[in-house]
Amino acid sequence: MVYFRLSPVSGSGLLLLCLVLGADRSYALELNLTDSANATCLYAKWQMNFTITYETTNKTYRTVNISDVSTVRDEGSTCGDDQNGPRIVIHFGSGFSWIVNFTKNAPDYLIDTISFSYNTNDHTIFPDAEHKGNITIDKRVALKIPLNDIFRCKSLLTIEKNNVTQHFWNVLVQAFVQSGTVSTKEYLCDEDKHSTTVAPIIHTTVPSPTTTPTPTEKPKVGTYSVSNGSNTCLLATMGLQLNVTQDKVSSIININPNTTGVTGSCHPQTAQLRLNSSIIKYLDFVFAVKNENRFYLKEVNVSMNLVNGSVFSIANNNLSYWDAPLGSSYMCNKEQTVSVSGTFQINTFDLRVQPFNVMEGKYSTAQDCSADDDNFLVPIAVGAALAGVLILVLLAYFIGLKRHHAGYEQF
Ligand SMILES: *[C@@H]1O[C@H](CO)[C@@H](O)[C@H](O)[C@H]1NC(C)=O
Ligand SMILES: *[C@@H]1O[C@H](CO)[C@@H](O)[C@H](O)[C@H]1NC(C)=O
Ligand SMILES: *[C@@H]1O[C@H](CO)[C@@H](O)[C@H](O)[C@H]1NC(C)=O
Ligand SMILES: *[C@@H]1O[C@H](CO)[C@@H](O)[C@H](O)[C@H]1NC(C)=O
Ligand SMILES: *[C@@H]1O[C@H](CO)[C@@H](O)[C@H](O)[C@H]1NC(C)=O
Ligand SMILES: *[C@@H]1O[C@H](CO)[C@@H](O)[C@H](O)[C@H]1NC(C)=O
Ligand SMILES: *[C@@H]1O[C@H](CO)[C@@H](O)[C@H](O)[C@H]1NC(C)=O
Ligand SMILES: *[C@@H]1O[C@H](CO)[C@@H](O)[C@H](O)[C@H]1NC(C)=O
Ligand SMILES: *[C@@H]1O[C@H](CO)[C@@H](O)[C@H](O)[C@H]1NC(C)=O
Ligand SMILES: *[C@@H]1O[C@H](CO)[C@@H](O)[C@H](O)[C@H]1NC(C)=O
Ligand SMILES: *[C@@H]1O[C@H](CO)[C@@H](O)[C@H](O)[C@H]1NC(C)=O
Ligand SMILES: *[C@@H]1O[C@H](CO)[C@@H](O)[C@H](O)[C@H]1NC(C)=O
Repeated sequence: MVYFRLSPVSGSGLLLLCLVLGADRSYALELNLTDSANATCLYAKWQMNFTITYETTNKTYRTVNISDVSTVRDEGSTCGDDQNGPRIVIHFGSGFSWIVNFTKNAPDYLIDTISFSYNTNDHTIFPDAEHKGNITIDKRVALKIPLNDIFRCKSLLTIEKNNVTQHFWNVLVQAFVQSGTVSTKEYLCDEDKHSTTVAPIIHTTVPSPTTTPTPTEKPKVGTYSVSNGSNTCLLATMGLQLNVTQDKVSSIININPNTTGVTGSCHPQTAQLRLNSSIIKYLDFVFAVKNENRFYLKEVNVSMNLVNGSVFSIANNNLSYWDAPLGSSYMCNKEQTVSVSGTFQINTFDLRVQPFNVMEGKYSTAQDCSADDDNFLVPIAVGAALAGVLILVLLAYFIGLKRHHAGYEQF
C-alpha cells in the first residue's frame, strides 16, 4: 500500500481512500465510503488513465497522457440522501477532477454520469494551449446493475468524448450497499463475459456444473527467504494462488511477490515462513522434521481481509505436504494444491522449498514431486491391490483385451 488516508467527509461519515500498487505497477484506487453510522454505503476499487488532445496556439493538436493519479485527494464523496444518490468525487494532480454519481432505480441502480475536468491553465501539462481554462466533460453512462450486486470489470472500458479518452480497468464497484456489507454477488461487465483471457481479480463465483470455469491467470513466481543472522536458513520459490470459499463463492487471490512482505524463523526441528501484504495479515507455512531425516509442510495459518470487509482466518497443523529428505529441497513445477480446509486451499506453481540445512544461500539437490507419483503407484500396485491387479491382468489376457492399463487406473 502506497498511500492510505482516513478523512472526515461531509455528513459526519467516514471515508477510507487508499491507493494500492496494482499488479501492473500502476495505481489502483480504493474507496470505502461510510455513512454517519460507520456502515459502508459505497465500495469501489479501480484503475484509470486518461488521454487528452488539445489545440495549441500554433493551431496544431497535442496529446497528453495522464496515468499518474498518485496525488489523489477525495473532496466531497458522499453517501447521498433521500433526494440525491451517492457520488465519488476525486481530485488529482493540478486541477483534475473526476466525479461519478449513482442513482437508484429499483430493482437496479445506475452508474449515472462520469464527469471529468481538466485545467489547461496548467502550462506544464498543457503547454501552449489555445483555450485556457477549466474544461468539463460529462458523459452519461447509465450502466444498470442489479441492487445488491457488485459490478466487476477486469477488461478495459473506454469512454471517448470531446477528444478525451478515459480508460478504466480492474473495476469493482457497489453503490447502495445494503446493511453495510459489500456483496459477494457479482455482476460482470459484458467485456468480461465475452473475454476468454479474463482472470478474476478479487473473487469469482463458483461455476455451476453446466458452465465452464473462468480461466485464471497464473500467479507470478517469487523467491522468499528467511535469514538467521547473516545466513539464509529457509528458501522458497513459488507462485501462490489462494482459494477462499465462502457461501459457495470462491475468491481466487494471486499473490504478487513484489508487494508481499516476508519474515520467518528457523530452528533445528521447525521452520516458519510468514508472508503478508495489504490484504493478507499473515500466511504462515510451518515446516517440521520427521524421523530425523525428512522434512514436510506441517502447518498453514492464514488471516486475511476479504473484499466484502470480513476477516477470514483458518489454521491446520496436521498437514503433510512437500515431503523430502533433510539436506535436500522439494521441487514441483506442475500445479499442486495444498488443501488446508474445506474452505481454503493454496494452489502452487513452479514450487521449490528448502526449510532446513540451506548452505551458502543456495538450494541443495531437489527431490521432484514426480517421485510422489511413483511412491503412490508402487506401494499400491505391489501391496494390497496386487491380487486384484493380477486377476485383472489375467482376465484381460484371457479375453484377449489389453485392459491392464485401465485396471491400474481404477486403483
Ligand atoms: C516485480 O518487480 C520486477 C522488478 O522491479 C518487475 O520486473 C516485475 O514486472 C514486477 N512484477 C509484478 C507482478 O509487478
Ligand atoms: C466510527 O468510527 C470511528 C473510527 O473508526 C469512531 O471514532 C467513531 O466513534 C465511529 N462512529 C460511530 C457512530 O460508530
Ligand atoms: C506547435 O506547438 C507545439 C507545442 O509547443 C510544438 O511541439 C510544435 O512543434 C509546434 N508546431 C509548429 C508547426 O510550430
Ligand atoms: C500516450 O499513450 C499512448 C498509448 O499508451 C502511446 O501510444 C503514446 O505514445 C503516449 N503519448 C505520449 C505523449 O506519451
Ligand atoms: C491506460 O491503461 C491501459 C490499460 O493498462 C493501457 O492499455 C493504455 O495504454 C494506458 N494509456 C495511457 C495513456 O497510459
Ligand atoms: C472545474 O470544473 C468542475 C466542474 O464544474 C469543478 O468540479 C472543478 O472544481 C473545477 N476545477 C477547477 C480547478 O476549478
Ligand atoms: C449526475 O451528474 C450529472 C453531471 O454532473 C448531472 O447532470 C446529473 O443531473 C447528475 N445526476 C444525479 C442523479 O445527481
Ligand atoms: C479534436 O481533435 C481533432 C484533431 O485531432 C480536431 O480536429 C477537433 O476539432 C477536436 N475536437 C474538439 C471537440 O476539440
Ligand atoms: C477453489 O475451491 C473450490 C472449492 O474447493 C473449487 O471448487 C474450485 O475449483 C477451486 N478453484 C481453484 C481455481 O482452485
Ligand atoms: C536462529 O537460530 C537460533 C538457534 O536455532 C534460534 O534460537 C533463533 O530463534 C533463530 N532465529 C531466527 C530469526 O530464526
Ligand atoms: C507486513 O507486516 C509488517 C509488520 O506488521 C508491516 O510493517 C509491513 O508493512 C507488512 N508488509 C506488507 C507488504 O503489507
Ligand atoms: C469499510 O469501512 C468499514 C468501516 O471502517 C469497515 O468496517 C469495512 O470493513 C470496510 N470495508 C472494506 C471492504 O474495506
